[in-house]
Amino acid sequence: MTWAMFSPPTLFAASYSNLVLLCLTFVMEVLIICFLLFTVEHLPVPLEIVMLSIFGAICIYGATASLANCIFGKDLIMMGPPLFRVEMTKEDTKEPPPCFCPSSHRTSSLRSIANLLNEGAVCGVPTDTVYALAASCKQPEAIEKIYRIKDRPQEKPICIFISNLDQLRAAAPPFSPLLWDFMENVYPGGIGCIIKKGEWLKKLGVGAGYDRVGTKDSIMIRVPDQTITVHLIDMTGPLAITSANPSGETDSTHHDMVISRLGHKLEGVLCDGESNEVVASTVVNCTKIDEGGITILREGCVPAAKVRQIFERVKNGAV
Ligand SMILES: *[C@@H]1O[C@H](CO)[C@@H](O)[C@H](O)[C@H]1NC(C)=O
Repeated sequence: MTWAMFSPPTLFAASYSNLVLLCLTFVMEVLIICFLLFTVEHLPVPLEIVMLSIFGAICIYGATASLANCIFGKDLIMMGPPLFRVEMTKEDTKEPPPCFCPSSHRTSSLRSIANLLNEGAVCGVPTDTVYALAASCKQPEAIEKIYRIKDRPQEKPICIFISNLDQLRAAAPPFSPLLWDFMENVYPGGIGCIIKKGEWLKKLGVGAGYDRVGTKDSIMIRVPDQTITVHLIDMTGPLAITSANPSGETDSTHHDMVISRLGHKLEGVLCDGESNEVVASTVVNCTKIDEGGITILREGCVPAAKVRQIFERVKNGAV
């Protein structure tokens, strides 16, 4: 009984080693059967002797080969290849990603990430600057989740990304001609404009998430200058966006950084390799653009001087 239990695993293990060991194990099994039959007197003696000799021969060959190969450090005497090999490929040794991480080069990846976002997931996405965390503006719980994922203080606002200015025009916000002109000159690109909030935001598709984006009375809107991000927003509607890093840490400039730091808390990461910029966008306060002009709240990838230059040009009507 014990033998019957041990022989299949032994043969199995031997098949992963080499041919000599496999033969040896196999002959040993036959030999044991011979012994068993001999004890119940059903076996001719010569057969047992033949089996014993084969067993002995393989033993001597195996021992000599092992010894020789060991002494000379190379395969001097053939031991035969293993019947099976344990496949040690790269995929096996690498840890599986903690979330869904498709490549941005495929339309199907964009569709899957868009579907996840529409269902209320939080995903890491590339932008025209650094990597960002995105949630659909239609899903306020997802926006709440962004705060938890990043450990972001509640008072810090989250901005929205739209795909083009026509989306904004369709919502008919009460903007002055100066603000429209300024926006036309900075979008798309690495400049975000803070403007006054209003009911028009709801027409933009920011429904249930209205109170969760921006501050009580202002919101930062940006049109990214990147095909992938814009295409994604066309599939999802406006996205609530914040940089893809734990609060207070450095920006993520590669999808690997997003995956390693936040991947286990996200439903997906759209992988696009290195980010376009190593710094975030420049933030401009436009809430008092008609009364007192603009103020730069954060100087990012676009220099403050350039923003002021654009504003002066627009204000002087030279557009
Ligand atoms: C924008 O500027 C106005 C006027 O200076 C100020 O009242 C407002 O708090 C600023 N908004 C932000 C988000 O800093």
